[in-house]
Amino acid sequence: MRTAIVLGTRPEIIKLSPVIRECERLNLDYFILHTGQHYSYNMDEVFFEQLELPRAKYNLDVGSGSHAEQTGKMLMGVEKVLLKEEPDVVLVEGDTNTVLAGALAAVKIGIKVGHVEAGLRSYDRGMPEEINRVLVDHCSDYLFAPTEKSKETLIGEGIPEDKIFVTGNTVVDAVFQNLEIARKKVDGDSLGVGEGEYFLATVHRQENVEDEVRFRGILKGLEMAHEEFGVQVLFPVHPRARKRLRAIGAEGRRGNGVCFVEPCDYLSFLKLESDARLVFTDSGGVQEEACVLGVPCVTLRDNTERQETLEVGANVLAGTDPDQVVDKARLILAKEHIWESPFGDGKAGSRIVDHVQSELAGCIR
Ligand code: UD1
Ligand code: UDP
Repeated sequence: MRTAIVLGTRPEIIKLSPVIRECERLNLDYFILHTGQHYSYNMDEVFFEQLELPRAKYNLDVGSGSHAEQTGKMLMGVEKVLLKEEPDVVLVEGDTNTVLAGALAAVKIGIKVGHVEAGLRSYDRGMPEEINRVLVDHCSDYLFAPTEKSKETLIGEGIPEDKIFVTGNTVVDAVFQNLEIARKKVDGDSLGVGEGEYFLATVHRQENVEDEVRFRGILKGLEMAHEEFGVQVLFPVHPRARKRLRAIGAEGRRGNGVCFVEPCDYLSFLKLESDARLVFTDSGGVQEEACVLGVPCVTLRDNTERQETLEVGANVLAGTDPDQVVDKARLILAKEHIWESPFGDGKAGSRIVDHVQSELAGCIR
């Protein structure tokens, strides 16, 4: 039984690392197909190195482009590899264009698809990720839902219950497998901030950074948070956001309490997250990690597909209005930071691999 793991972006490398490690541990017949959606060293290679993952057997080097261009190239490339390798199952994780292309290419040639992190919904069809999530869930054979809530969502959309497995989110496995290493290996001083004395910010969502009013609102909100709380804001800048900062002339601003740095490696980022007083983000993975790490999160969006984080009190939606950003930070900082993570016990990776193995064994028997 052969498994293809299709990935292409930073969060997929991180969140599939527990699955890949499990395949390695069990010495399974599997290979990694990288679409090349992310390709800069600090968005790609650094994670393979740090997480000690085997190199991808194939890299399609698709790179950046419009949605159709990028997805179309990936579809053609993935299909070619799948026809050659003939895997029994393709695993994809999350909601990117890579995930859509991997799933669609596989299902159209009769290869089973397993979707890791199935059943998340923001109910905002303006997000490219929401379209990808819905399409991939509805063409998958095995849906690995991180929580009971995501399982219920899938059932509500008519997906048969026997296709759905609640596994927890592999983000927890990755945090558990790497946090201690990060604490030992990463020197906080080298990151230029002290424990608990800073806010951490990440922003990259298309609907935020490509919209100048929204992006400026976020930047203003971060500056105002610095003024209100007297705390520096450290902002590792995603390449999409970097391009937009440059375009709107906001890149070189100094002395406003917001410090722009390059995207961090995973261990440095985990250390920064775990020691931050608060996280401001529009990232999906960062909302989850903050929740797992017990760090309060202000989400710079109008909605989230990680509603569990709101329900346990770990996260609050602020949108992009500067006053709201500060208000929501004030609100969540004033509360106790005690909640139970809804994302499972850190064994999602092995559960997913187990399920795939037994399902395939059932099919072949
Ligand atoms: C993609 C995903 C998003 C995910 C994010 C994770 C889609 C539709 N979007 O968004 O869901 O949250 O990855 O980070 O799949 N760039 C580089 N180097 C790189 C990669 C990108 O410089 O290694 C720049 C390019 O200018 C590119 C831009 O970033 O045009 C956007 O990259 P793209 O992969 O299209 O989307 P992301 O914003 O990264
Ligand atoms: N991350 C990182 N360095 C950074 C910012 C984020 O290693 O500078 C990690 C973070 O720990 C999380 C993942 O990247 O696991 C989130 O990826 P991203 O925000 O790009 O995508 P999303 O989760 O929104 O799809």
